[in-house]
Amino acid sequence: MTESVFKNLLIEPTNYCNLSCPICPIGSGEDKRKKGFMAFKNFKKIVDSGEDFLEFFQFSGYGEPFLSPDMGKMIRYVGEKNFFSGIFTNGVILDKKKMELFKKNYKCKVTFSIDGISQKSYNYYRRDGNLKKALANLSYLVDLKKKNNLSNLEVIWQFLVMKTNEHEIEEAVKLAKKIGVNHFKLKAISIYETHPRYLDFAPRDKKYRRQKKLSKGCQFIEPGMPFILWNGDVVPCCVSYKKEYVMGNAFKEDLLNIWNSKKYKKFREEYVKGINFLCNKRCRYGQK
Ligand SMILES: C[S@@+](CC[C@H](N)C(=O)[O-])C[C@H]1O[C@@H](n2cnc3c(N)ncnc32)[C@H](O)[C@@H]1O
Ligand code: SF4
Ligand code: SF4
Repeated sequence: MTESVFKNLLIEPTNYCNLSCPICPIGSGEDKRKKGFMAFKNFKKIVDSGEDFLEFFQFSGYGEPFLSPDMGKMIRYVGEKNFFSGIFTNGVILDKKKMELFKKNYKCKVTFSIDGISQKSYNYYRRDGNLKKALANLSYLVDLKKKNNLSNLEVIWQFLVMKTNEHEIEEAVKLAKKIGVNHFKLKAISIYETHPRYLDFAPRDKKYRRQKKLSKGCQFIEPGMPFILWNGDVVPCCVSYKKEYVMGNAFKEDLLNIWNSKKYKKFREEYVKGINFLCNKRCRYGQK
């Protein structure tokens, strides 16, 4: 494999979370990493070093991005440089003050994870979450967009489908239309027959269940999106947040050198050949 480059980065501003969703590595406690926040000065260094080839910054990872005290600064920094950015949020800890920054009309997609339209079904997954607050924040951002004619801002409602909320989809679609979001997206929960809690979460309707194979390739490899954890460690994707997959540290090493390192190239080559253990064993994108 020759030297290559990527355009997208997945950034984890923090792995702290205000909720405890049961099938998320953070909510379930499966993720044993130390908790922390990415320092703004380190984030800035990464952006500056990739200025010539990076185009898109996705803020998410494991944790709630808006818990980071620097989240606003990070969005502003890439926005002022005219990069595209995306943020996944549970929407619960947002407030009007935090959302003010979007008035700048940055090229930004904000996805709210709201899985239900009744407090009971919502809390089945979004433990400790307040549905009313999440929906109020979603509506506020949509109104902010409309009032200020923010043509570059996209507001998305994403709904993880499970057996406890699949009956609410129709009403959720109506509510999303009424609120006026740009998109309403259904997402299949990542759970397979072998998972001990499969029956607690898998939707009854098969069309909402996760497909075993995906025809399109993995975005982390093709075209490429390294995942930078809050402490700077670079891993190939969000399935591989554990120590053994760390390819380098973006606070200390050059990002392109990490991407073109022997270990990272081997990981990608094994994916292409269909022999990557992690991709084939744990992931629907890699399975052949
Ligand atoms: C891990 S979360 C981090 C960002 C934020 N805390 C949130 O929940 O949106 C990133 C994305 O993963 C989704 N997600 C959470 N648990 C999931 C699961 N079990 N299967 C598939 N997607 C999941 C969330 O809905 C969100 O869109
Ligand atoms: S809110 Fe997001 S990061 Fe937090 S536990 Fe739920 S899915 Fe995981
Ligand atoms: S495990 Fe492999 S196929 Fe799955 S997301 Fe990660 S890199 Fe992509």
